[in-house]
Amino acid sequence: MTKIGVMGCGVVSEYGHLPPLRDSKRFDLHALMDPDAARVADYAKRFGVKHAYTESEAFFSSGIEAAAICSPAPVHLENVRGCAAHGLPVLCEKPLAMDAGEAQQIIDTMRAAELPLYVGFCYRFAGCAQTIRRLVRDGAIGQVLSLRLVYNWDCHGKYEQGPDGEWRIYQRRADRMLEGGPMVDCGVHQVDLAQWWLDSPVVRHHGHGAWVDAYEAPDHMWLHLDHACGAHTCVEISYSYGHTTKEKYNEFVYELIGTDGMIRYERGTNLFELRTHQGTERLKHTGEKDFAGMYDAFADALLHGKPGDLCTGEEAQRVTDIARTATEQVIRERATKPTPVR
Ligand SMILES: NC(=O)c1ccc[n+]([C@@H]2O[C@H](COP(=O)([O-])OP(=O)(O)OC[C@H]3O[C@@H](n4cnc5c(N)ncnc54)[C@H](O)[C@@H]3O)[C@@H](O)[C@H]2O)c1
Repeated sequence: MTKIGVMGCGVVSEYGHLPPLRDSKRFDLHALMDPDAARVADYAKRFGVKHAYTESEAFFSSGIEAAAICSPAPVHLENVRGCAAHGLPVLCEKPLAMDAGEAQQIIDTMRAAELPLYVGFCYRFAGCAQTIRRLVRDGAIGQVLSLRLVYNWDCHGKYEQGPDGEWRIYQRRADRMLEGGPMVDCGVHQVDLAQWWLDSPVVRHHGHGAWVDAYEAPDHMWLHLDHACGAHTCVEISYSYGHTTKEKYNEFVYELIGTDGMIRYERGTNLFELRTHQGTERLKHTGEKDFAGMYDAFADALLHGKPGDLCTGEEAQRVTDIARTATEQVIRERATKPTPVR
């Protein structure tokens, strides 16, 4: 078993990383690190982890053989540098960094240390995403030429109710909007899936946006992607889909059109099917993320020295770059759009 340590005890650690690591037969969840002493102690107790640290040096010297970085993006570089100095392979949460220059420093640091760097693109490991990849590769719907990936939600809403009963801005959603908005935060997964399913890089992209909310980044965005193979993908992402409504909407769809059929996945209705001239095949419906599958792949990668289905640092950075440059292009072009009368 590989002794692994996790840096950052926040939301994604709690629901995504720590449960599969606690239950893993291939990793020994050995150490946690978070500057928040109360939080790291609480997580260590709940997930049965022997070593809990608020200082990274003690964490790096605890005997771990690999690290998962689940801290906020602005501290990823500092944490990766520590891992590289201690010879630790890294699985880092997306985005690698807040800008392309810093992301490249992360990639270069790990390359110089001759250590593997993978990024937490956990959607690839969901059963539905794996099935789509296999069907596309097997030619089940012929040549795939059109894809639509939709994730419209409210990012937990614009407001939250405080302990005093007063409604206030929900800071977590506000922070995601200030960091670049939904395409940079969530849409990177969809851009990555489209390229990975098709095995074909994006060669040209163009975004469109709407500003239901008052941030610089658009809170509802469409991103059009042309792939080298000739296929076209449209990614639609929203953080304002019912963001001020009491009852919520949620739309999560994958749709692939090929010369010989279609594949359609809807998260909310349990629909997942393959339609061809022979008829309709119902496919096994799953959730859209799978952290346990990602850690299995990480264990394989450490064993065989090959990424398998894991997203490498370079791939992750290309995807983030597409999402960021498209968002910047949409913000630039906003000046030429008609201003809504409010
Ligand atoms: N792959 C996914 O589906 C997915 C989902 C959610 C978040 N994320 C990504 O995961 C990362 C963390 O997101 P989150 O929502 O869990 O954030 P969070 O704010 O809930 O948690 C971050 C934690 O990191 C800790 N931290 C701060 N500085 C640190 C440091 N120097 N070293 C170690 N820990 C430090 C904080 O105290 C906090 O406990 C982000 O990059 C985010 O984009 C990915």
